[in-house]
Amino acid sequence: MVQPEGIVSSRRNGKEWLQDRSIMVVSNRAPVSFFQDDQGDLLFQRSGGGLVTALTGLAENVEMTWVAAAANSLETSWQSGQISLGEGAPSINLQLVPLSPEVYEGYYNVIANPLLWFLQHSMWNFISAPTITRATWDAWEQGYVAANREFAAVIAHRLKAEKTHTLVMLQDYHLYLVPRLLRNLLRRRRNYTLTYFVHIPWPGSEDWGFLPAGMRQPILEGLTAVDLLGFQTREDGLNFLRTVETFLPGSHVSYGRGRIAYRNHVTHVRDFPISVDVTAVQRLAISTEVQQLAAQLEKEIDGYPLIVRVDRTEPSKNIVRGFQAFGEMLDLHPEHCGRVKFYALLVPSRLNVEEYQNYHDELTAAAGWINSRHGTSEWEPVRILTGESYPRAIAALQLYDVLLVNSIADGMNLVAKEGPLVNRRDGVVVLSERTGARQQLESGALVISPCDVYATAEALHLALTMPAEERAQRAARLRRLVEEHDINDWLASQVDTLQSLGL
Ligand code: G6P
Repeated sequence: MVQPEGIVSSRRNGKEWLQDRSIMVVSNRAPVSFFQDDQGDLLFQRSGGGLVTALTGLAENVEMTWVAAAANSLETSWQSGQISLGEGAPSINLQLVPLSPEVYEGYYNVIANPLLWFLQHSMWNFISAPTITRATWDAWEQGYVAANREFAAVIAHRLKAEKTHTLVMLQDYHLYLVPRLLRNLLRRRRNYTLTYFVHIPWPGSEDWGFLPAGMRQPILEGLTAVDLLGFQTREDGLNFLRTVETFLPGSHVSYGRGRIAYRNHVTHVRDFPISVDVTAVQRLAISTEVQQLAAQLEKEIDGYPLIVRVDRTEPSKNIVRGFQAFGEMLDLHPEHCGRVKFYALLVPSRLNVEEYQNYHDELTAAAGWINSRHGTSEWEPVRILTGESYPRAIAALQLYDVLLVNSIADGMNLVAKEGPLVNRRDGVVVLSERTGARQQLESGALVISPCDVYATAEALHLALTMPAEERAQRAARLRRLVEEHDINDWLASQVDTLQSLGL
């Protein structure tokens, strides 16, 4: 069994430990996005989210480099240089790895999304998809493998020039091959430690059995070259151990110690549930901008009880079944007709991938169907607000009576954590049991199975009719659970584990 080291209570002195090291974070997306002003100058804006805050927070104590893909011509022109992520924030070195449009297309739009993403979120309908053709293999070889090679070459080049020991922290499903490639490029060097955090679910070995061995093998070879491999939940870690045991001959897996020995190397497997930056989210919630947006929204909902969801337009979020459940609730409990509103705040995502374009059409049709079946001239049951506005999302989260998170599968789901932190109405969270967040939040949420539209409808009804006292108790419990483990704990427990393992 994977040791439950995700949350460690007695911290070692991480700062001191880090002082002798430098840090290199590696991810597909950079912590900033680039744009050009009217004069043609290159400017950048810091990406939102707690991950960037937590990781760059490390730069206060040590030298940090962030390596990410350059996906367009603006980013390609950057290459490498120091950036500061805001006033008073420490500066970091940003190194972008130039990828040609052809490489990027295969790497991001064919293999990472949708092939691996859909596989890891158990979304392939194996009767018809995925169908792996010569074109998919080309995308694998000339896209995913090629991009991973480019990343490994850039990292190896930097590590060869490094004088201090470097902690290389790889992130997510785009870079599975990088660790093994790096080991091969840096054979005799020992001046680095590799950690890898997989942000999305790791399904059972049966699912990995559908991926051709020619892709699966290099992925497992890649991840078993890591020193400390982190997953969101204990179950993800166990699934990984089982996948290795099933498909990697010559590996020795210890479930009890969360350890894999393969090719004279040991990989430690642990779970580190990710979270949000509690202080930053709470601070944003009381900002003037969010207060104004919340006041506007409050006026618009006009005293109706409010169901909210906030998601990328992403098939794994199960938005269509969420609307169906709302429709079923109106059918089963017509007393809610004309008395409740459902706001879906949706952020467009991965629009170059066909599955995502189709999903957008499907969810719009599902909402339209409910509005035409149940709506009246005075009452529009479902409202979709599209666009990327984090402040508006936080404003809506302050106002929900029910927050619906019904993902088919989700590594963690941070909306389920942000909601209870900022909500002002003792709102109830209806939470899919297939989110990583369920592991921590189930005692305060109404937990549903994501395919069970009927149970989701009943949970929405229960949430809307729950006595005030129970709502308050549940909301307080959820808030406490989120406050107890914020994003800095996620990072500190990784550092702590590295220390205790002597890595
Ligand atoms: C998931 C992944 C993240 C990614 C996000 C947005 O949550 O785990 O790594 O940043 O989706 O995806 P995108 O493809 O827009 O970078």
